[in-house]
Amino acid sequence: MKWRALLFVSATTAFCLGLGAAIPEQSLREAAQGSALLIGTAVRPAQLSEPAYASTLAREFNMLEPEDALKWEVVHPEPQSFDFSQGDQIVDFAARHDMKIRGHTLVWHRQNPKWLTEKKYTSAELAEILEKHIKTVVGHYRGKIFAWDVVNEAFDELHPGTLRSTIWRDQPGIGTTEDTAASYELRATDNSVRSKLAARGSQQGYIEQCFRWTHQADPQALLFYNEAEAEVLNPKSDAIYAMVRDFRQRGVPIDGVGFQMHVANLHADVASISANIKRFTALGVQVHITEMDVALPLDASANPRAEDLQKQADVYRQIATACLSHPGCTAIQTWGFTDKYSWIGSHSKQTQGAALPFDRNYRCKPAYEGLRSALESGRR
Ligand code: XIL
Repeated sequence: MKWRALLFVSATTAFCLGLGAAIPEQSLREAAQGSALLIGTAVRPAQLSEPAYASTLAREFNMLEPEDALKWEVVHPEPQSFDFSQGDQIVDFAARHDMKIRGHTLVWHRQNPKWLTEKKYTSAELAEILEKHIKTVVGHYRGKIFAWDVVNEAFDELHPGTLRSTIWRDQPGIGTTEDTAASYELRATDNSVRSKLAARGSQQGYIEQCFRWTHQADPQALLFYNEAEAEVLNPKSDAIYAMVRDFRQRGVPIDGVGFQMHVANLHADVASISANIKRFTALGVQVHITEMDVALPLDASANPRAEDLQKQADVYRQIATACLSHPGCTAIQTWGFTDKYSWIGSHSKQTQGAALPFDRNYRCKPAYEGLRSALESGRR
């Protein structure tokens, strides 16, 4: 690792003074270059006009993802109208700073507008709404967004291996198109196999259909299935693995799996995460770590403990190292980058926070150093 004496610190590295007497020479995006890894973060358009936010973002990352700006409630506020103003601001920023853009997310059970969730639609109507949404949003950003989280968090936490109840799953018929039925028929050799596949097909049919529609709207975009709490080997990741394998075998257009990586209680089973990345990439799909943060308990003055900051640095370093050890793990993204703006505060009712690599004043934390050292030593 190269270090630059404090005296010669350039303006661009001055934000990292929090680290002490020596200043790291490379930003995260510079450190990631040697391993062809994308290093990204979720962003909020309202903050792009804040100089420290914008300069840190541009200096440190080569990829970004709208945190909320492309969710249904923002981008599709009325049945007949789309609002791309927030998403477009982010796309402009990315273009000016040579950053790639991940799109998040086309199909989810949260942050949907009331006009969608409170009215009862028939399956045919819902399918038409969903197809129009996907094709309009993906079409608007065709050639600009290189990878999409097509479907987010479709599997259930409480009933491992099954799909969660959502407006999309609970409306049978969205995905039972001729395409889906025909590709299942092709594989079914006897009646019992046929009925098993048909049952799974009718449950997961909407997911498959969404991947097909997205691919039609932008054939160049990489299409991801994104999920929470499936980073390790567990029943949920087993079910996703079976789905992805089935999609690949039947030619459903899927290119990758996103593991969110919201780490709680400073606990990450890195060996299991690594084994999971290995089995997914062996299917021929890419893995992106899409929403990493490592939440810490906070004291009454909203500060984390010093020893927890060191443990947090280890978690960032170990997980980045695990990703880098698999050629098919091609991106690491944090869910925001400064503790000033992180969903963990409201999500944990302010009992946790300090989850990101930069503190509230944009100073680099030990977590930043953990991440950067993994990127520097993980050349491949
Ligand atoms: C969160 C955002 O960070 C918040 O701003 C919003 O209020 C709620 O959603 N998994 C996901 C993300 O896939 O979209 C969520 O983002 C965090 C959990």
